[in-house]
Amino acid sequence: MVEQIRAFVTGFPVKHSRSPLIHRHWLELAKINGSYEIIEVTPENFADFMENLSSGRSGFVGGNVTIPHKQQAFALAVKADEIAVELGAANTLWLEDGRLCATNTDGYGFAANLDQWAPRWDQADSAVILGAGGASRAIIQTVRDRGISRIHVVNRTVSRAAELAARFGRPVEAHPLEALGEVLSGAGLFINTSSLGMHGSAGGDVPAIDFSVMAPDAIVTDIVYTPLVTPLMTMAKQQGLKVVDGLGMLLHQAVPGFEKWFGIRPVVTDILRQRIVADLENRT
Ligand code: ATR
Repeated sequence: MVEQIRAFVTGFPVKHSRSPLIHRHWLELAKINGSYEIIEVTPENFADFMENLSSGRSGFVGGNVTIPHKQQAFALAVKADEIAVELGAANTLWLEDGRLCATNTDGYGFAANLDQWAPRWDQADSAVILGAGGASRAIIQTVRDRGISRIHVVNRTVSRAAELAARFGRPVEAHPLEALGEVLSGAGLFINTSSLGMHGSAGGDVPAIDFSVMAPDAIVTDIVYTPLVTPLMTMAKQQGLKVVDGLGMLLHQAVPGFEKWFGIRPVVTDILRQRIVADLENRT
């Protein structure tokens, strides 16, 4: 009997993850004898989980890692690529010649989503990124790598933005929330990486933002996808800006992992998107 190829997503908690829906859709479509399993692992047990994975005993060929294990996953992998090394965090693991390898595909997913819906996004002279958490890091890296020469990171806790500016050096500058209006002026791209507007978080107090001061043809995007159309996106749309939602980032970040584990590069289609949208509508 041919053995099933098994991959996983781990986190704590991880039940809310939509990744199984995405990978199972591609497995079905390509008629691959594979599985994508949800494995909840506590922080205390994560090192053991990685040890089992590394040794091949777990039976998995690799998987995705989400909050709060991304830094540990990077630290415990044998080999990490440049992207993961700079971020100090991994979301995708795979075994290669018996060695546990790691990368981070969040930035790839972010860029691929904008490439699809707003192809000239990387022509912006300057970008404004709201938030300074883990997601912000991966996005700063990608925005820099795509050649945007001024990146303003705005955060409620300005010291966290300053840490990122120090880490990435030029072209990243840190600002407090009060500076948002000023840095938005003339900017070509605004990205919300903060949890502002997310279901179940501090969604009620999203401040009014004047996006009209941005460059003509500026793009506003939110990596929050619950709700799919966030309060910030609604605001920007009403002010006549082009907006891109964050669901595509989730879909595209899954592509490199699937290819590593199952050997076929999958395609992000509208049918897949609709499946996830339907699930979001049912579950949130
Ligand atoms: P992740 O790793 O997913 O990016 P995180 O590290 O918890 O998540 O970061 C969440 C981001 O949302 C932070 O930038 C946070 O600001 P602080 O660094 O000041 O905590 C931001 N955030 C959350 N709630 C916010 C609010 N009500 N107003 C402004 N920013 C908020």
